[in-house]
Amino acid sequence: MAQGIISYRSVHHPVYSKTGMVAAQNGTAAQIGAQVLAEGGNAVDAAVAVGFALAVIVPRAGNIGGGGFMLVHDAESGETTAIDYRETAPLKATRDMYLDADGNADPQLSRFSHKASGVPGTVAGLYEAHKRFGRMPWKRLVQPAAELARDGIIVSKDLATMLDNARERLCRQKTACEYFYRDGAYAYDFGDIFFQTDLAKTLQLIANQGADAFYRGEIADKIVAEMEAGGGLIDHESLAAYEPVMRKPLRGQYRGYEIVTMPPPSSGGVALVQMLNILEHFPVAELGAGSADKVHLLAEVLRLAYADRSKHLGDADFHPVPVDWLISEDYAQALAGTIDMERARPSADVVPGKAPPLESMETTHYSIIDVDGNVVSNTYTLNLTFGSGIAVAGAGFLLNNEMDDFVSKPGVPNAYGLLGSEANAVEAGKRPLSSMMPTIVFRDGEPWFATGSPGGSRIISTVLQFVVNVIDHGMNIADAVHFPLVHHQWLPDRLSVEAGIGPDTARLLEQRGHEVRVIGTMYSGTQTVAYDDGLFLGASDPRRPNAASVAPKTINAHRD
Ligand code: DON
Repeated sequence: MAQGIISYRSVHHPVYSKTGMVAAQNGTAAQIGAQVLAEGGNAVDAAVAVGFALAVIVPRAGNIGGGGFMLVHDAESGETTAIDYRETAPLKATRDMYLDADGNADPQLSRFSHKASGVPGTVAGLYEAHKRFGRMPWKRLVQPAAELARDGIIVSKDLATMLDNARERLCRQKTACEYFYRDGAYAYDFGDIFFQTDLAKTLQLIANQGADAFYRGEIADKIVAEMEAGGGLIDHESLAAYEPVMRKPLRGQYRGYEIVTMPPPSSGGVALVQMLNILEHFPVAELGAGSADKVHLLAEVLRLAYADRSKHLGDADFHPVPVDWLISEDYAQALAGTIDMERARPSADVVPGKAPPLESMETTHYSIIDVDGNVVSNTYTLNLTFGSGIAVAGAGFLLNNEMDDFVSKPGVPNAYGLLGSEANAVEAGKRPLSSMMPTIVFRDGEPWFATGSPGGSRIISTVLQFVVNVIDHGMNIADAVHFPLVHHQWLPDRLSVEAGIGPDTARLLEQRGHEVRVIGTMYSGTQTVAYDDGLFLGASDPRRPNAASVAPKTINAHRD
């Protein structure tokens, strides 16, 4: 980073090694990935192992019943691929499926029913990534997760607390209650052993037979039986039709660095490039990292990007998304001209831009770099904590409630308070709009750092601030992740700030017209790896307990 990796001017230091790095929300999962690297696996091999391990250890977000996005940078070809394994609406999904008899959106239906689930993409996504880029046998990579589920994991304080909090919701369904509570009734304590026997069998089938077991075989039968019992829409045809989509990553430039990020159905990548383009018109570094001027500028930029998101973003395979216009220099310049550094602009006065006609609390992120310089940046999710709260009987895993990321009814916000338009209406086979945005920043054509975050609507603001902290403020990746975060999403018209921003700054912001709300934590969690000055670096967000960056334990492994 600009000020050097291990510098006495830094308050926090990244984990460093000469042999690669895995940064994940859980240390045991990161360790499993690091072991794959140590045995000669590449970043994609490690990503597969970490993805399945998190499904066992962090069941509120790690998953096989959800979906996500993965960026893979292949060092040999120099190419970066975006793997879209987002859930898709089942083939029987219809536009008004979440409206009640009076035509009102029913959040219970879109969030906590069998109809809340899109067709899961995780198993297909990890399988495809491995098929294209993997080096080690598939079974070797899934096996550690199957064994953890079979032999039991030690319940962390974090898992015990999360399960205790979720008891009412998970125990609405007998199956989920029996899977996640001792004797189907009692919360686990910190230190207990938690066995997931059905999940172990499911993972063993996936280890032995690959993705077909999930989409066409025994596991598919169980998913369909669960759906039929609970009134859900995922049928055999929808499962068999599921395909991960290989996309061209979205690219932008910021102060000489190349930003490579996720295209639609992510909205985060488009928003990141759009916001960085606007910020280039301002002397961000001079404003100072935590100054009221800087926070004000961030709030105004976020307000503009989230407004555009609400109108223009959706699955571009179904609805034309004006990406080129949104990330154009001209549009950024026009938007920059609307920002008043002295006054907050009421969100009511901000309407999403008018595009010219087109020509043409749960998610988890991990980042991995291997000794050859291959990079994976992966965000996947069940959507809300523990997804729909509904488990597949006999198969041991929770289903997502990603369908709530669609617009149930125009003008009605989703669980994150996000609004949307026609572009994000429910349609059979379509993918709901996401904020997830695995990102890799390149310097002189080489990957410099890879990052991403959970946090629902706060993913976009969190990743933006991380990038700005490193590029504009010269922070190393550990200082950048510890820095207090702020958030604005256009509507509701309010500026949330973590307590570290300080009351003096908050007062100055209020004087400019912001409604400031101080919150303990933004509950996002960037997991970052970097390559700098001959070292592989990792920085795991302290906002998530048990997150860790782990280096493979090998000797004599040098990148060159
Ligand atoms: O795809 C999305 O944008 C959401 N389903 C992500 C949910 C999330 O990040 C929850 N995490 N804390």
